[in-house]
Amino acid sequence: MTSPEPPGSGPPARRRGFEPLPEWVGPTTRLVHGARRPDWNAGAVTPPIYQTSTYHWPAEHSESTEFNRAYLYTRFENPTADVPAELIRQLEGGEAAKLFGSGMGAITSTVLSLVQTGDKVVSAGGLYGGTTDLLTDLLPRMGIGVRVLSDDEAQTPEGRVDPRTRLVMLESPTNPTLRVHDIARWARAADAVGALLVVDNTFASPINQRPLALGADLVVHSATKYLGGHSDLIAGAVVGAKALVGRIDQKTYFGSALDPFAAFLLARSLKTLALRVERQNENGARVASAVAGHPAVARVHYPGRASPDEEAIATRQMRGRGGVVALSLRGGVSAADRFLRHLRFVHVAASLGGVESLASIPRLTSHRHASEAELAAAGIDDGLVRLAFGIEDPADLVRDVTEALDALGEGTKAAPL
Ligand SMILES: Cc1ncc(COP(=O)(O)O)c(C=O)c1O
Repeated sequence: MTSPEPPGSGPPARRRGFEPLPEWVGPTTRLVHGARRPDWNAGAVTPPIYQTSTYHWPAEHSESTEFNRAYLYTRFENPTADVPAELIRQLEGGEAAKLFGSGMGAITSTVLSLVQTGDKVVSAGGLYGGTTDLLTDLLPRMGIGVRVLSDDEAQTPEGRVDPRTRLVMLESPTNPTLRVHDIARWARAADAVGALLVVDNTFASPINQRPLALGADLVVHSATKYLGGHSDLIAGAVVGAKALVGRIDQKTYFGSALDPFAAFLLARSLKTLALRVERQNENGARVASAVAGHPAVARVHYPGRASPDEEAIATRQMRGRGGVVALSLRGGVSAADRFLRHLRFVHVAASLGGVESLASIPRLTSHRHASEAELAAAGIDDGLVRLAFGIEDPADLVRDVTEALDALGEGTKAAPL
């Protein structure tokens, strides 16, 4: 008598491609229809959550190590995570995308997969604090040289990289002062010495800016922000050429896999990314211009406002300017604190990119460990408040912010910065 086949002993499910869309479709159509594989999911319109750690894997299937191999273990790959990865890949215009359990997971895995002892890494202007810590704390301990450029220095890339430079890390717009760096010019400078340009596109989102089309080698994201869009998940992504993403994908020992449930939430949120970002662009631009002449505001920080050169770069490389605005308030940290207390629709919390508006004082949150010299170099003054607008009605946000500024009263009008 032959014993019955053990369940699941058939061929393992191979990673399956998605139905291609025509080149000409717009971003929202792409986000809604760009990751369909109905033959796979019992015909479900909404992709299911494959909440599994592992997959049936008969011994004879162990030979393949390609990027598009069969599913083996969720720390390596998961069918739910394939869906948002595919959408982000298409939006950024890359050959391959890989998702992670956080933005820092994506950034750490990317940097550590591509550099080695003896290399040099250049930090091209202001970077997220966690990224700066990775570059300036961990890399030197591995014998990797790091050169940190100020935002002013990063305006002129030529001569700032040398043949030992393996990787340049760039953010544009920067946090929290929304400086704009010329991605195409940095791509040329990096290319000239054979270095890779990695752009953190979190603040712009692929709706506003596509660094790969400007010459960047890789794009990284904190998908926790605009891509996730609802302040309810933590995720990260890297997008670029198959060969490069494949090198990062192979380093499964970093262990920053995206959980299937967070992947499902991300896929669901991505469908409305373009709609959300368009409203957030409008909210950012409306508030930035409405408060520009307010007596309590010493300076408005918004992409392109720092100088005519940055305005020209932003016009060239960005579709919209985003939903983050920073205000330097007269009266320092106490004015900043009182301003936040008067806001009605803007929650005081770190992070950005969600449907709800958030506000924070960078010197008390993201830059709380920075020295006075580091704060000055990053252009962070005492009264700096970062506002990350959500999708509320523009008129309501303009009114909320203006009334909170008015409430600062006469005392702040003549006060120093
Ligand atoms: C620009 C930028 N990059 C990366 C990160 C890190 O992302 P995560 O918090 O998802 O690890 C953040 C987080 O605030 C960020 O603002």
